Amino acid sequence: MKGKLMPAIEKETLTLTKPGVDDGAAMWELVNNSSLDLNSPYKYLMMCKFFADTCVTAKVEDRLAGFVTAFIPPEADDTVFVWQVGVDSSFRGQGIASRMLSELMSRDVCRNVRYLEATVTPTNDASDSLFKGFARRHEVDCEIKTCFPSRLFPGNGHESELTYRIGPLNNK
Ligand SMILES: CC(C)(COP(=O)(O)OP(=O)(O)OC[C@H]1O[C@@H](n2cnc3c(N)ncnc32)[C@H](O)[C@@H]1OP(=O)(O)O)[C@@H](O)C(=O)NCCC(=O)NCCS
Repeated sequence: MKGKLMPAIEKETLTLTKPGVDDGAAMWELVNNSSLDLNSPYKYLMMCKFFADTCVTAKVEDRLAGFVTAFIPPEADDTVFVWQVGVDSSFRGQGIASRMLSELMSRDVCRNVRYLEATVTPTNDASDSLFKGFARRHEVDCEIKTCFPSRLFPGNGHESELTYRIGPLNNK
């Protein structure tokens, strides 16, 4: 990967690995304490069990500092879709989310991946910076289009979700 080195947390005992089912509850807890959409505990367990190859946990000692849940859509195997990225508030701003995306892209399962996609709400500045920074470091475009307009969500409380499509990545 081109670009700058990540800061201090790299020197700590940060471990980036695939999740196991024992991580599902902590992932749910982290989301429950954040601004992310909270899904059922079952959904986190399901990602850990069936999509572990495209999910990442970041741990400091045994504590979950962050996670990525992602999958490669069956109809677009050149794309990895990042469903959620969360970093515990006490660990933010130290490059953990960026490192988790790099770990994901380094996996053998992503060897044919040319695009990373995620959806971001228009007011989520941290997420916007995360994905634009990833695109900038890889020197590729970040195309932004509406994915799910707010009218598709039940009630009136959900912003539109914009697709960030980053690539083409040279992932060899
Ligand atoms: C978004 C989130 C995962 C970023 O995690 P993080 O580990 O703090 O991110 P990093 O330290 O790797 O920083 C990534 C980039 O975002 C920038 N950034 C981080 N927090 C920011 C903030 N609050 N506002 C603006 N930019 C921010 C960093 O400066 C960095 O930019 P750079 O690459 O240009 O240097 C974290 O803030 C979070 O969990 N937020 C709540 C959940 C969420 O919104 N998830 C994303 C939706 S899928």
